[in-house]
Amino acid sequence: MYDLLLLNATLVNEGRVFQADVGIRDQRIATIASDLSSAPATQVMDVRGLHLLPGMIDDQVHFREPGLTHKGDIATESAAAVAGGITTYMEMPNVNPLTINAQALEDKYQRATGRSRANFAFYLGASNDNLEDIKTLDPQAACGIKVFMGASTGNMLVDDPQVLDSIFEHAPIIIVTHCEDSPTIQRNEQAAREKYGEEVPFAEHPLIRSEEACWKSSSFAVELAKKHDARLHILHITTARELAHFQPGPMKGKRITGEACVHHLWFSQEDYPRLGAQIKCNPAVKRAEDRDAILQAVKDGRIDIVATDHAPHTWEEKQGTYFKAPAGLPLVQHALPSLLDHYHAGRLSLETIVEKVCHNPAEAFEVKDRGYLREGYFADLVLVDLQAETTVTRESLLYKCGWSPFEGHTFKSRIVTTLVNGGIAWHEGQLGQGIHGQRLTFNR
Ligand code: DOR
Repeated sequence: MYDLLLLNATLVNEGRVFQADVGIRDQRIATIASDLSSAPATQVMDVRGLHLLPGMIDDQVHFREPGLTHKGDIATESAAAVAGGITTYMEMPNVNPLTINAQALEDKYQRATGRSRANFAFYLGASNDNLEDIKTLDPQAACGIKVFMGASTGNMLVDDPQVLDSIFEHAPIIIVTHCEDSPTIQRNEQAAREKYGEEVPFAEHPLIRSEEACWKSSSFAVELAKKHDARLHILHITTARELAHFQPGPMKGKRITGEACVHHLWFSQEDYPRLGAQIKCNPAVKRAEDRDAILQAVKDGRIDIVATDHAPHTWEEKQGTYFKAPAGLPLVQHALPSLLDHYHAGRLSLETIVEKVCHNPAEAFEVKDRGYLREGYFADLVLVDLQAETTVTRESLLYKCGWSPFEGHTFKSRIVTTLVNGGIAWHEGQLGQGIHGQRLTFNR
C-alpha cells in the first residue's frame, strides 16, 4: 500500500530522462517501476506530461533568523523555496547574533523545526576568534563552515591570515568561502567616492567589487586548501578568470569545487541601468562575457553546483543610494524556473541542471538519502510543467520582502507540485497544509 502514487512521470535523474511510475510510502520513494497502475494507494496522481526531478538542494541562502526578521524569516522564505521547487536549503550565519558556536546553531535548528516547509541545515560561521568552536564542531551539527574572506552583509570578515591558515588546517567538515579581497574593494570605493561623491551609479558595483578583488581572495583560498588538503567549496563565482581554479569533469574526488548562482547566470552589467540596487549583490553581477563563461563552466564541470545566495532586503532598504542600499536579492522562488529557461534556450540540458542543483550538492555536503530519485531515498520531489508559463508578479511572491528582480518576466516552465518528505508542500499555486521540513543528517 502506497501513500501516494505518481503515474506516467518523466523522470530526470543520474544522466537519464525516462518514463516511470513512482510509489511513495513513509516519507520515502518506495518503488520506481514501469507500471504501478494497479498498486493500491491512498492517493494517485496521473502526472503524464510532467517532468519529475529530485527537489533542488540550495547550498546558499540567507533566511535572516534570528535578528533580521524584518527582511525574511524561516517560515516565509521556506514557503517561497518550496513554491520554487527547492526542498532543502543550507542557511548562512550572518544573522544576529552570528551563528558562530554550537549554541547558536542549535537555536536555529529549534527555530526551523515545525516551521520550515523545506529541509534545513545551517552553517557554522568562522570569525577571527572562534577556532575552538570550529575544531570541536559536531559534524552533524552544521552542513559546512562558512568563511567570509571578504566583507559583506553582516560583520563576519575573517582577515587574519594566521587564523585563516588554522581554519583550513583544522576544519572537520567542508569549508565554503565568500571570496572578495576587502582592501582592494576599499581602495576602489575610495576612488569612486572621489569621482562621484555619494551618488555612485550602481553600474560601478562590478568595478568596485572588481574581478581583481575576487581573483586575489579566491587564489588565497585555493592556496590554503592545497596547503592543508582541505575540502574547499568557493561560493558564487562571478568572473571568467576565476574558473582557472577548477577542474572540468565530474565532481567525484575533487577537493576544490566552485558554485555559480542563478542571478550571475542570468543578469549582466547591462542590467544595472534598469535594475540598479535590485541586482546589487556581493560578489557583483559582472560582464556578459563572465556570465557566458560561467555558464560554459557549468556545462563542462568546472562549476559543480548551482545555488541561489537568496539574500532578501526590504524594498525600502533597497531605495538607498549606492553606499546605503544593502547587497543581496531574493531568488529562491524562481531559481529553478530560471535554470529551466536556460534549458528552453538550449543552453543547459535537464540532466545537467539536476546534476548541479540536486546530485552534486547532496554529494558535496554528504547529505544522507536525498538529492536523487532512488528507492529508499526521501521523497523530496518536484513536478515541473515545461509547457506552462510562470509570470512573475508582485502578488505571486511569497517573500516577506515582497519584491523580485524577475518581476515582469515570464518563465517558460511552471513548478506544479513540490513534495518534501512525501508531503505536499506546494501544489497548483497553493502551499500545502502541513509543514514537512526536516533537519538534514549527513553521511560523515
Ligand atoms: O549580496 C550579498 N548579500 N552577498 C553576501 O555575501 C551577503 C548577502 C546578505 O546577507 O545580504
